[in-house]
Amino acid sequence: MRHFKPSLLATAALGFAFVSTIPAYAQAPATAVEAPKGTPWTDTRLDADTRTELLLKEMTQDEKLKLVFGHFATAADWLNARGDIAGLNWKPPVESHHQSAGFVFGVPRLGIPNQWQTDAGVGVASQVGDKPRLRTALPSGMATAATWDRDLAFKGGAMIGREARLSGFNVQLAGGVNLMREPRNGRNFEYGGEDPLLAGIIVGEQIRGIQSNHIISTVKHYAYNAQETNRFTASSNISDKAGRESDLLAFQFAIETGNPASVMCAYNRVNNVYACESDYLLNEVLKKDWGYKGYVMSDWGATHSTIPAANAGLDQQSGYPFDKSNYFAGPLKEAIENGFVKQERLDDMARRILWGLFSTGAFDKPVPVAEDQIDFKAHAAVTQADAEGGIVLLKNTGLLPLATTAKKIVVIGGYADKGVISGGGSSQVYGQGGNPVKDLGLGPKAFPGPLTYYPDSPVEALKARTKAEVVYHDGKDVKAAVKAAKGADVVIVFGTQWTGESLDAELKLDENADALIDAVAKANKKTVVVLQTGGPVFMPWLSKVGAVVEAWYPGTKGGTAIARVLTGEVSPSGRLPVTFAASLDQLPRPKLDGDPKSDTIRTQVNYDIEGAAIGYKWFDKKGLKPLFAFGHGLTYSTFGYSDLKTSTAGDKLRVSVTVTNTGKVAASDVPQVYVSAPASAGWEAPKRLGGWDKVALKPGESKTVTVTVDPRLLATFDSASKTWNVAAGAYEVILARSATDTASKTTVTLNAQKYDVRGK
Ligand code: BGC
Repeated sequence: MRHFKPSLLATAALGFAFVSTIPAYAQAPATAVEAPKGTPWTDTRLDADTRTELLLKEMTQDEKLKLVFGHFATAADWLNARGDIAGLNWKPPVESHHQSAGFVFGVPRLGIPNQWQTDAGVGVASQVGDKPRLRTALPSGMATAATWDRDLAFKGGAMIGREARLSGFNVQLAGGVNLMREPRNGRNFEYGGEDPLLAGIIVGEQIRGIQSNHIISTVKHYAYNAQETNRFTASSNISDKAGRESDLLAFQFAIETGNPASVMCAYNRVNNVYACESDYLLNEVLKKDWGYKGYVMSDWGATHSTIPAANAGLDQQSGYPFDKSNYFAGPLKEAIENGFVKQERLDDMARRILWGLFSTGAFDKPVPVAEDQIDFKAHAAVTQADAEGGIVLLKNTGLLPLATTAKKIVVIGGYADKGVISGGGSSQVYGQGGNPVKDLGLGPKAFPGPLTYYPDSPVEALKARTKAEVVYHDGKDVKAAVKAAKGADVVIVFGTQWTGESLDAELKLDENADALIDAVAKANKKTVVVLQTGGPVFMPWLSKVGAVVEAWYPGTKGGTAIARVLTGEVSPSGRLPVTFAASLDQLPRPKLDGDPKSDTIRTQVNYDIEGAAIGYKWFDKKGLKPLFAFGHGLTYSTFGYSDLKTSTAGDKLRVSVTVTNTGKVAASDVPQVYVSAPASAGWEAPKRLGGWDKVALKPGESKTVTVTVDPRLLATFDSASKTWNVAAGAYEVILARSATDTASKTTVTLNAQKYDVRGK
């Protein structure tokens, strides 16, 4: 039960752990401020920049200071018990929303709204407590990335944003785009996988969807927050060049695609400087190089100073009293009076926050709480579509879709009779209908628990779709499960891996699932495995089973989505957004750095080992054979490719191909375009994903897809001149079904090209 012990970090440092009751503070109704009519900055015909400057001029020093200081919005006894703030008797502001992440005061006299912040990675989250709001959960971020579907990502974000707005929130802590450098990272489920283009675009689309509701979204956690072990103290060490070509590039794509009004800086240090006081990350890369106009908020507990943080480019301290001091309140005022922080810096902080409120529309469109207007039925369809699009069929010897002739289906384990699992931590969404495994005592009761299932049972959904008799066995007693499996036409074993914030995970299934699958598959060859995991796991039983379906954390309609894929009502169309390693020794760091029992150890994590060669790039470079490759995913039809063409008109590399559904059922394909540079170009790895498309085709139908490759994916970054440089030469353009399954290739000659730091 290794997963289920909250680490010292979770209890001592993060410490939501001890929140158990709602305190006796009065919960005031949320007040949505109407901007005073007739003032120049309320004129919506003016652009956000103009309105920002008009308003900024009117603000007093104390009003500006109000905007840059955020409060935690959940009552937590542990905070008052904490040594460094004992006696504070801290309570969340009465204007904040119960059990939410944060609150920042507005300025009613000028029409500046309060900022109500909620976590929103997969839906409107609630902090641990006894009155969570019950909302729609999308599948995990990893699952949405596995859809490779921009449209689904946008729609999912738009759904989150609608529920957030109607729940009274105008700032969403969403947009996790940390690349999977570490498959054991307990938060991989919140993120978009290992490739900067795929993660950046999918997460960017989700952010765009959220903000389409005239509210703010963050992108997070900036940057290199790739493991949970020692997350408050570890230093992620990496060179500028490698970062610009990987993790920073993912942020750049996400920001360009989604235009988030805020960036959340991370807990960890980067090259030994805290991310939230890194002049390099905040002032230089984000604001100067990329021209970012929004504001930087700290993660909860990630501000460590007043003067260094303010001067390095942090614009808003979040979640006080997570931090040890109210650095951006009185201390910031004093630092400005004493000249350690310039007045212009505070003006710039306020300007960026105002710009975020104006540019998204959050300033003009108040967010009164109107929960009864949430259309849960419509939102169920959104999350179901996302889950169906992200389920990856990893292996199939012909057992799927389930034969209509099957008379008896035995389903074993994973609480599949009750529902589907979700990931734990601050992103936790509590679903409508409650937690069907609550009383089974699973997982940690405290943060990052409680372990939460959504009551959409795969077994029930299967029963509704088959004439066969469906029998469920809980799998606790392996021998009894084997006995039950023996007479079945097909056996479906459910294996789960629960992961959560603040804890890294082992790459294996929970409880006895690996042994159970092995034993059942020995007894009945017709065994299908359905996985619900945060990310990659090992599969010691793989050769013995007939089919494997990766359903990730599939969200509030996950059981229905799984059943529809199993029966063939929909053809699976997900593709892996990460590499599944075959063993730990294939990883850049076979042993995870740091010590999960210590919350003071200054762990050094060397990301220059792999540099920009993350995931499939590392496997390619080292000639390693993964268990399942990045981009892999099967379906119930077959596809043919023809007319692979390239063009370089206007110095843009365009690749087109015609895709034909050559099989018997409707399905979607994901043609993937990789590019490979001549050796002289000095790339970090043999090839990079240059683009992709997802096409839904009926049997016999064809479509031509065209992919334009971003020049940064053809270039290397030069840190000295801050330019992207494409080397002249012959490049291979590889049309593929996955990073290891090439369909066809062609060669294109590119001229030497130079682009600025923004890829222009
Ligand atoms: C997490 C953030 C989250 C914040 C507020 C932190 O522990 O790292 O992702 O947005 O809490 O809940």
